[in-house]
Amino acid sequence: MAGRRIAAMESETKGERYRRLAGEIAAVLEGIDDPVTAMATAACLVHQALPAASWTGFYRVVAPGLLRVGPYQGPLGCLEISFDRGVCGTAARERRSQLVPDVDAFPGHIACDAAARSEVVVPVDDASGELAAVLDVDSHQPAAFDEEDRAGLERVAAVLSRHLAPAAAAVR
Ligand code: SME
Repeated sequence: MAGRRIAAMESETKGERYRRLAGEIAAVLEGIDDPVTAMATAACLVHQALPAASWTGFYRVVAPGLLRVGPYQGPLGCLEISFDRGVCGTAARERRSQLVPDVDAFPGHIACDAAARSEVVVPVDDASGELAAVLDVDSHQPAAFDEEDRAGLERVAAVLSRHLAPAAAAVR
């Protein structure tokens, strides 16, 4: 069974595990240019690879300054987040990854899940380099993610970008 692979091979470094995950996502998505299929598949594989993740998924840019939830794994997520709110909004507005070891210390954090304690959010561009979405991974554990997770998830986002055709991207 494919699952929890990030934790499966203890001899690998975290960076190596993310490289393997990114390679797996690239292989599975070969020939796919449907953004829903690509995001749903990536959400599944990332979530299964990260045992600490409680919620893994995408918020898509659907209008100027507005994110709407996309494919995800986990409990019910907020439906819409504006660029001026929360960790996801900050990542989208600044087009910069946000590593948040303690969500209570992040001004404006949106508690879709009251049990969430830490998270990491990375921007996802479309194939032309425009912001298409953010990838959000939340955890019930404090400080569940570090710089290696941020870098690894950015690697995943770069793979995904190739499958997000500019024409399929929403209005900005
Ligand atoms: N915590 C996020 C909101 C999204 S979810 O928790 C699924 C934020 O502050 O942007």
